[in-house]
Amino acid sequence: MAKKYQILVVDDEEPITFLLKRALEELADYDVDVALNGTEAINRIQSTLYDVVLLDIRMPRVSGIDVLKFLNEHSPTTQVIMLTNVVDYKTAIETIKLGAYDFISKPYDTEQLLTTIARALERRQLVIDKEVMKNELNRIGGSSGIIGESPIFRNVIDNARKIAASESFVLIQGASGTGKELVAHLIHNESSRKDLPFVAVNCASIPDQLLESELFGHEKGSFTSAYSAKQGLVEVAHGGTLFLDEVGDISPPTQAKLLRFLETGEFRRVGGTASMKVDVRVVSATNKNLQKEVQNGRFREDLLYRLNVVSIQLPPLRERKEDIPMLIDYFLKRKSKAEPKHLSAEAFSIMMHHDWPGNVRELEHVIEGASVLCQGDTIEAHDLWMNPALSNNQEPRAFSGPPGKNDRMMSLEELEKIHIEKVLRHQRWNRAKSARMLGITPKTLYLKIKRYKIKAPTLSMDTD
Ligand SMILES: Nc1ncnc2c1ncn2[C@@H]1O[C@H](COP(=O)(O)OP(=O)(O)OP(=O)(O)O)[C@@H](O)[C@H]1O
Ligand SMILES: [Mg+2]
Repeated sequence: MAKKYQILVVDDEEPITFLLKRALEELADYDVDVALNGTEAINRIQSTLYDVVLLDIRMPRVSGIDVLKFLNEHSPTTQVIMLTNVVDYKTAIETIKLGAYDFISKPYDTEQLLTTIARALERRQLVIDKEVMKNELNRIGGSSGIIGESPIFRNVIDNARKIAASESFVLIQGASGTGKELVAHLIHNESSRKDLPFVAVNCASIPDQLLESELFGHEKGSFTSAYSAKQGLVEVAHGGTLFLDEVGDISPPTQAKLLRFLETGEFRRVGGTASMKVDVRVVSATNKNLQKEVQNGRFREDLLYRLNVVSIQLPPLRERKEDIPMLIDYFLKRKSKAEPKHLSAEAFSIMMHHDWPGNVRELEHVIEGASVLCQGDTIEAHDLWMNPALSNNQEPRAFSGPPGKNDRMMSLEELEKIHIEKVLRHQRWNRAKSARMLGITPKTLYLKIKRYKIKAPTLSMDTD
């Protein structure tokens, strides 16, 4: 069910609030709360996340300006429309400088009021999109194509589409690179929440002490570096979908807090006292076997039960080799600006016989690497750089046949490190160019260089 927008009307003249509430609920189907003074408004704002607040400027004791300032601090995505008397014009302009979206003067023209609210809602969405984009964990924008026609894969995707329409929480399981994040996007984009935010949180990449404040926000001064209050990602995701990626990596204390939130929809900002409520659908993903994690005492059973109302299991690529040719074509087209390259018969056969421990992501990287290495328009076997390497061999060799029995299987991380080094060398340590070639952002590359402790002669800081 699509979420109704939440509006708060703040005015000390009760008949006005009554008329506004009735007009907005009847004409636009908004959910309207009323506060008759500034204090009441602040109380409500602390427990409910409003999309738009209609705010009278002149009120005794706590004025509209005070409430506006509080909103800026506490709930910056909320849009404020000031309600003014004609005589208040100067003050009204002042409030715009303070961050109000617009002002409307009494007596209200209903038509004008409704269009102003509609525009304010649009602006709120823009602010949120910006916030979501800033969150660099949202790596994939929108739903890019999901490729695969094998019966087992089709079955999973058809299921995901059906599940999308329901409101249930979903747990997506599958090995690394099988497309869990892609499916999470699909579920959001095919749900009634699709026009509201999709917010991804990578639970493994955020240090545990920070995860709680990323998720639930924090109040000013709640810890030493908290200079101002911040909304949590659950608030940003209000009405939409919260994607908890690598959910199996959450620590036990944060698991407990997450559980409480999932059970009630309520949470508290770190250092805050008021409990707030939001409406989010939670989709989570993990490459761990959470049932096993529960048995080993590393993951709470009650949390697993909450997250896993419906589950989707993504099959590894080696179990659906029919999809390989289509994926090759898809990535070849995506990587080439001009006429796409193609594979020689030998190269194609190698791709078909490979085991793909890194699944679709590995295949994507191999095609990407080959497109760069290959000078002509036919990719040959020696252009394919794959995972298996001989034991004690630090460099992966170009693949020249199916892996032998004694080949040591490198972990994806080892391979990634080696591949990043190779690309950096190839690009003469220019990070921007290397990042582009690797298909990741310069920031992500920087983090990986640090993580893998890659040492360069001089790491160039060029932006191009
Ligand atoms: N069926 C598919 N069609 C097209 N591209 C795919 C498909 N599956 C995966 N990919 C691509 O492979 C890469 C890895 O996919 P994704 O990030 O969704 O995997 P994941 O299961 O979340 O992996 P990890 O566990 O490592 O996070 C992405 O670039 C994605 O676009
Ligand atoms: Mg993922």
